[in-house]
Amino acid sequence: MTITSAPRSSAGHAGSVRIGLLGLGTVGGGVARLLLERGEAIAREVGRPIELRRVVVRDLTKARDVSVPDGILTDDPANILDDPEIDIVVEVMGGIHPTGDWLRQAIRAGKHVVTANKDLVATEGAELLRLAASHGVDIAYEASVGGGIPLIGVFRQDLAANEVQSLHAIINGTTNYILTRMAQDGADYAPALAEAQALGYAESDPTNDVEAIDATYKLAILASLAFRTHVPQPEIYREGITRLRADDFRAAHDLGYVIKLVAMARRHHRGLGEPDAIEVRVHPTLLPRDVLLAGVNGVYNAVHVKGDLVGDVLLYGRGAGSAPTSSAVVADIIDIALNLNAGIANRVPFKVAGDLPRLPIAEVETRYYVRLWVADQPGVLAQIAQAFGDHGISIASCIQKETSGAPEGSAELVIVTHLAREAGMRAALDAFARMGAVREVANVLRIEAP
Ligand SMILES: NC(=O)c1ccc[n+]([C@@H]2O[C@H](COP(=O)([O-])OP(=O)(O)OC[C@H]3O[C@@H](n4cnc5c(N)ncnc54)[C@H](OP(=O)(O)O)[C@@H]3O)[C@@H](O)[C@H]2O)c1
Repeated sequence: MTITSAPRSSAGHAGSVRIGLLGLGTVGGGVARLLLERGEAIAREVGRPIELRRVVVRDLTKARDVSVPDGILTDDPANILDDPEIDIVVEVMGGIHPTGDWLRQAIRAGKHVVTANKDLVATEGAELLRLAASHGVDIAYEASVGGGIPLIGVFRQDLAANEVQSLHAIINGTTNYILTRMAQDGADYAPALAEAQALGYAESDPTNDVEAIDATYKLAILASLAFRTHVPQPEIYREGITRLRADDFRAAHDLGYVIKLVAMARRHHRGLGEPDAIEVRVHPTLLPRDVLLAGVNGVYNAVHVKGDLVGDVLLYGRGAGSAPTSSAVVADIIDIALNLNAGIANRVPFKVAGDLPRLPIAEVETRYYVRLWVADQPGVLAQIAQAFGDHGISIASCIQKETSGAPEGSAELVIVTHLAREAGMRAALDAFARMGAVREVANVLRIEAP
């Protein structure tokens, strides 16, 4: 089906660019709608029409809120993968199996690929990119991280002259919504999650989001591009948001911080002759209230990157949703269609400069926030300071609050440290566990100031 009857391109290419769409859900529906409703404008952009040739779904009987032309909906992927006339396979079905195999088949058949699938790109992306390069086709994945925010293109091309020093990102809208509610309403974790679920921002099984698994997939993709190295998702240090309590938000606020789930990567220059290392981690983080990321609220996402030439860059916008994500998918389609017009592919290949080792979490240095319940008696503070001191940690501030909900004979301490090694902090926490005066370590959070 031809969407519009736009003229031939100035480059002299006849006919349309033919699309096979795998998936017609939240994103696929948005992509189909865009291709159908904005066909004329897109054809002007490309110089020839984009034709939605086939759409593969799982369930042909399902009611859809987008209507596609008669006869193009199918539940047989062979109708796309084996159709020699399809130029670009657009994968918006998700998952790794059978998706990865279908895309490999498409690439081997000489088809270009656009995907929004962060799980697949983070786990099999390097292999898919190599395969695509060896078959002279493109694979584009702008929508896989940050929905409508231009990120992949920025890291692949726009920052290419820089050595990226660090990136700090809020890249999971579900958790950012929950944390924003906790900060603004003094809500505890469970009611804030329930509200996010009622509004459709969190799934009924929220594990992937609240345990920060989703954020590690996205960070694997961004850090690989930013540092021109391969960052395997399972190697990313990860802590979710489920241990955060209203008390942490109150204490953070009093200290001048906000709490966000931050995905971060940072380059470490090591000694002469040693390769740089990178630290990659995702965990709840205290951010000073005046840094750019601290103001990113609700379901919004943002990435703050520091390059040695460009300095600070902030990329901000809607990280998910049908329209923003299909905006990125269709931009990739247009880009590949323009490459087809010019007869080129792989103009910006993924470059691996080397294998930068990951800094073990024990070697990471950061500042810490520690909230403790201790016995309300003389000498306890001195014991705690001693335990920190024994492991090379110095205290920047310590606040003891009179709290109405405090258990009998207990006091709450909120301690902020100077820069300390993770290994030292863990050893100090072990020492606290053996100390009768420390009743409970309620939370330990890292502090960053991007
Ligand atoms: N939703 C977002 O805001 C967002 C943002 C960024 C990236 N993404 C990524 O985009 C992808 C799609 O997400 P989505 O939210 O659009 O998912 P979705 O609403 O669940 O849609 C998935 C679509 O794929 C089809 N499908 C799934 N498995 C299939 C199979 N084995 N064979 C044939 N068709 C199959 C489904 O068919 P039926 O309709 O028949 O069930 C459905 O149309 C995922 O990789 C996701 O991570 C989503």
